[in-house]
Amino acid sequence: MQRIPASEIAEANKSTDGVTPWLGSQIQKIIDGIHQKYKVVDDGAVATYIPELGRANPTDFGICLVTVDGQVFTAGDWDREFTIQSMCKPFAFQLALERHGAGETLKHVGVEPSGEAFNSIEFDPKTGRPFNPMVNAGAIAVASLIKQKPAAAGVKAFVEKMGKAAGRRLQVDEAVLASETLTGNRNRAIAYMLLNAGIIDDGVQDSLHQYFAQCSMLVNCKDLAMMAATMANIGNQPLTGEAVFDFQNLKHVLAVMFSCGLYDYAGNWAFEVGLPAKSGVSGGIFGVVNRQLGIAVYSPRLDAQGNSVRGILACKELASHLGLHAFDFSNVGSSFMQWLL
Ligand code: DON
Repeated sequence: MQRIPASEIAEANKSTDGVTPWLGSQIQKIIDGIHQKYKVVDDGAVATYIPELGRANPTDFGICLVTVDGQVFTAGDWDREFTIQSMCKPFAFQLALERHGAGETLKHVGVEPSGEAFNSIEFDPKTGRPFNPMVNAGAIAVASLIKQKPAAAGVKAFVEKMGKAAGRRLQVDEAVLASETLTGNRNRAIAYMLLNAGIIDDGVQDSLHQYFAQCSMLVNCKDLAMMAATMANIGNQPLTGEAVFDFQNLKHVLAVMFSCGLYDYAGNWAFEVGLPAKSGVSGGIFGVVNRQLGIAVYSPRLDAQGNSVRGILACKELASHLGLHAFDFSNVGSSFMQWLL
């Protein structure tokens, strides 16, 4: 497949009298082609360190793209549910910024890439804070900022807000939550180190519950792409029009996703795909094209860095065909996708 030349897009859409079925059908073709091409890839392995995650079907493969005006393009197992895992982290960070402001939030978590794995037990030597909100230590610090009393209320508030972004009611997978809680000793160790350093308060169990429950929330590819499109659409849900996220904070969240969203693969990702994005060990990955669209891919086999193998391949190819890289010469602010709107 070749990149669609901008001149061809402009010409084809001019002839459709304000309606844009041509590019829509091209995007569907591209997504179908990518799905077809990569469904044969069976490299990587499903995560099993949380036993419930090991129950995922390794052959599942879904793709969804949602534009900021609510057009939805899907392929494969786009409606298969999986737990959001680390992909909850940018949204939790957004909530913390909305609730406490950047000044207070950054007393508890930094915004520097760590270049380390998601579960690394390392803190910024200068400040003692976790490096950023995308690694577990930072996400637990963020969870402690958005937890509520009783703990169930904080989880409910998070899940309800995510449901507003997805455009449907979401829920926590109780079996995964139990499995995470039972096996999450490394996260418990991190939380107690954060308590010891004065980064989080002594409601450690509630902070961990908030974090584990956020990770255990069920979504499908369409939900994630809708949530990403809500971010892309300055915080407004593309279909309901509801203002879900405060847009003033979104730029901070997207910046951290860009530099830290894929852990020790973040530099390569920025180089090759060039989008703010987040991956999770369930095999999901989502990306945001500011003012244009959200994309999500699900395929549970992971590479050595804990990222979905097919997810990375599919996003690379999608970004390349549609010119989505933030610094691609054809991605001129929000003008590229205006042909779709
Ligand atoms: O903290 C954990 O172990 C998980 N609940 C979340 C991990 C995750 O998704 C890391 N991302 N790639």
